[in-house]
Formats: sequence, C-alpha cells, structure tokens
Amino acid sequence: MRGVMAVDLKSLVRSIPDYPKPGIIFRDITSLIEDSAGFRQACQQLADSHSSKGITKVAGIEARGFIFGAGVAIALGVGFVPVRKAGKLPGETIGQNYALEYGVDTIEIHANAVNGDDNVLLIDDLIATGGTAVAAISLLRRTGATVSHAGFVIDLPDINGAEKVRALGVSVEALIA
Ligand code: PRP
Ligand code: ADE
Repeated sequence: MRGVMAVDLKSLVRSIPDYPKPGIIFRDITSLIEDSAGFRQACQQLADSHSSKGITKVAGIEARGFIFGAGVAIALGVGFVPVRKAGKLPGETIGQNYALEYGVDTIEIHANAVNGDDNVLLIDDLIATGGTAVAAISLLRRTGATVSHAGFVIDLPDINGAEKVRALGVSVEALIA
C-alpha cells in the first residue's frame, strides 16, 4: 500500500482455544476489523492483487465473508453477491451442501445474482478445510459464471483447504497463514 505504514495483520487476529468445541483454535477476526487501519489494509490488499483480473463481481460468504467481501467490492468498484446460509434469500435460489471443520451447512445464492458474463472473485475471512469455499465455487459456477480467483484473510495451511480450491483451477491468495 503506497504511502501507508503497513499493519501487521497477524498480530490483530485473536486466537481463542476450544471454541466452538474442544480442540478447535478459533481465529477471531473481530479484533482485526475493530482496527481501522488493519481492516482497511486487509480489504485493500485483497483488492489490489485482483485489480487487473477483470473481476465483475465479488462474492462473499456469510457471515464473516460479507465483512471483507463488501470492502473488496467497493475497492474494486464492482457489485457484491452475498453467498448466504440456507433460507435467508427472498428470491429464487440455488443451493449447495458442504461440510465444515465443526458441522454441516447449506449455502445459497439468488439464481440470477451472477451469470455467464461474470468473472467472480470469491472472498472469505478464513479457509480451513476448504469445504465452504469449494461449495461456493461450485455453486457460483453452476450459473455459468467464471470463478478463477479466491481471496482469504487467513489460511490454516495445516488443514490444506487452499489446495482443494487450487485443484478447481482457482488461484488462492491469503494474507495471513
Ligand atoms: C467459517 C469461516 C469460513 C468457513 C471456513 O464460517 O468464516 O466461511 O468457516 O471453514 P472451511 O474452510 O472448513 O469450510 P462459519 O461457517 O463458521 O460461519 P460464520 O462466518 O457465520 O461464523
Ligand atoms: N472456521 C473454520 N475453522 C475456523 C477456525 N479455526 N477459526 C475461525 N473460523 C473458522
């Protein structure tokens, strides 16, 4: 970021052991987004690295992906598509089931939110198993949209989720490992 002192984003992420269940170390981004410089830098970095990719929409995954995805969409000057948990969108939807590090869930988008003319950048706060991101990419691609790039604030590399996303032909950028 030109002319701006870089923030150590990693130092702004709080780690909470045994949440939401024993054995999970929860990487909490609320402490990062409460820091205005850190929040701005995280969104700007994810936008800067995709500014020459012809992105037409940013898709963010509920709930924490909304926070960063919206910031990235504004920085790139494109619209934002919410990838929501099941039952939250009022129009016609398409959905996809997926497994979490600690549960099972379903995500949905409005069926007409993106189409074959779109080049979608997927944004989320964190990638762990990659199950959520893989489901979101599959869901977005069912509309005919191109999904070739994904950005995360945090990657948990020991769990190898980023490799599952790359195996789909999608580039993965993460700001913190
Ligand atoms: C978290 C996180 C990612 C996902 C990553 O969301 O924000 O979306 O899990 O896990 P994975 O790579 O193993 O799929 P969560 O479903 O907990 O929802 P939240 O954002 O509403 O807290
Ligand atoms: N989502 C999945 N795994 C997580 C973790 N360890 N910390 C925060 N969010 C998560």
